[in-house]
Amino acid sequence: MFNEESHLKQPIRWGMVGGGRGSQIGYSHRNAALRDGLFTLVASAFDLNAQRGRDFSINLGVDENRSYATYQEMFAQEKLREDGIQAVSIATPNSTHFEICKAALEAGLHVICEKPLTFTVSEAYQLKALAHQKNKLIGVMYGYSGFPMIHQAREMVRRGDLGDIRVVNAQFAHGFHNEEYEKNDPSLKWRVTPAASGPTYVIGDIGTHAYFLCEMITELEVESLCCMRQSFIESRAPLEDNAHIMLKFKGGAVGTLWASAVNAGSMHQQKIRIVGEKASIEWWDEFPNQLRYEIQGEAPRILERGMSYLYQDDQGVSCNRIGGGHAEGYFESWANLYARFAHAFDASDKGDKVTLERIWFPSVDAGIEGTRLCEKCVESADNGAQWVNYKDEGINNGTS
Ligand code: NAI
Repeated sequence: MFNEESHLKQPIRWGMVGGGRGSQIGYSHRNAALRDGLFTLVASAFDLNAQRGRDFSINLGVDENRSYATYQEMFAQEKLREDGIQAVSIATPNSTHFEICKAALEAGLHVICEKPLTFTVSEAYQLKALAHQKNKLIGVMYGYSGFPMIHQAREMVRRGDLGDIRVVNAQFAHGFHNEEYEKNDPSLKWRVTPAASGPTYVIGDIGTHAYFLCEMITELEVESLCCMRQSFIESRAPLEDNAHIMLKFKGGAVGTLWASAVNAGSMHQQKIRIVGEKASIEWWDEFPNQLRYEIQGEAPRILERGMSYLYQDDQGVSCNRIGGGHAEGYFESWANLYARFAHAFDASDKGDKVTLERIWFPSVDAGIEGTRLCEKCVESADNGAQWVNYKDEGINNGTS
């Protein structure tokens, strides 16, 4: 069970950049961070529109003197205070992640950043190097990776319940943008504008989520990939609203990833199927409390969250908050991640490397791989769907 008593001496003093009034994802961050008393929201630069951001901030109970017009002002002013913020979450459009993360690390803050972490792999490595130099952590908000059944899936693969992995089949394919809704939706407009979104739309926006779950569950490394991408709504070009990616993993496993915003009629359809030599597992984010487990030659089983037959010995596997049968969902997954971020930041500040190493969370490396996925898919797709090597040799890993 999630340990409610696992408090910090003091909640982490926390600020937010972006995620202002009416934003898509701001509330999810606040709800998750504030859920367990591990963070306290004391400062903000919520909005590009300074007055709206300040007004929103004051309404949420943040001191008006700490409801800042810009993130630059927030970092500078908070640094001068003895009780200044220790960590910040960044929930702004993709184009700003690099500069805001960099400024936050330079101001001596731990960072939780939205995905995709940066536009380029080189920028992501720069952030990793800076975090290392400043002795701070970067968490990346792959919000689905806090679901207990995802951790169960990972543990099943690790323990060999499936045998060697042969095929990975992943998709995140919703139908919400099957028409040109960006004409009236600023949140979609920036997503299909390269200067704000980056080199991709659906690959970065949703493909990275499903990809991260595959990476995390299987711990396989991609060797090469081949991507085909297109925009069915033509005005979105050069960004894609649909993409198919084929993957070859080191060791012989293969996979596919479908990312789409034009899968008409679909809600999310984020599904991950892992096929091993003797059994398969399948998880669907619309039914996150269940994990389908199919052993060849036997009747399929549905494993349920919160049951004693699940693996219990890892903090992630057993982090359900209520017993099986009661539905847990998206908010709990996010809160599980924020709890991990809090304990990791605390351990890092105390120099407690043993504890820090035990806490799994989506780190800067997860952010780097998401950005690499985008970069490599574009390289492949824009060269006629060529197979491309996934990792370039000799790339600086950011710690040296
Ligand atoms: P949005 O367009 O709905 O909201 C963006 C917010 O950031 C607005 O309040 C805007 O005023 C503010 N903002 C923009 N630039 C700013 C700046 N320089 N300083 C302060 N505030 C600024 O965008 P949405 O959909 O909430 O996405 C934000 C980020 O979150 C994106 O990177 C997106 O990819 C990611 N996201 C992640 C999800 C997840 O499941 N982890 C789900 C949805 C979005």
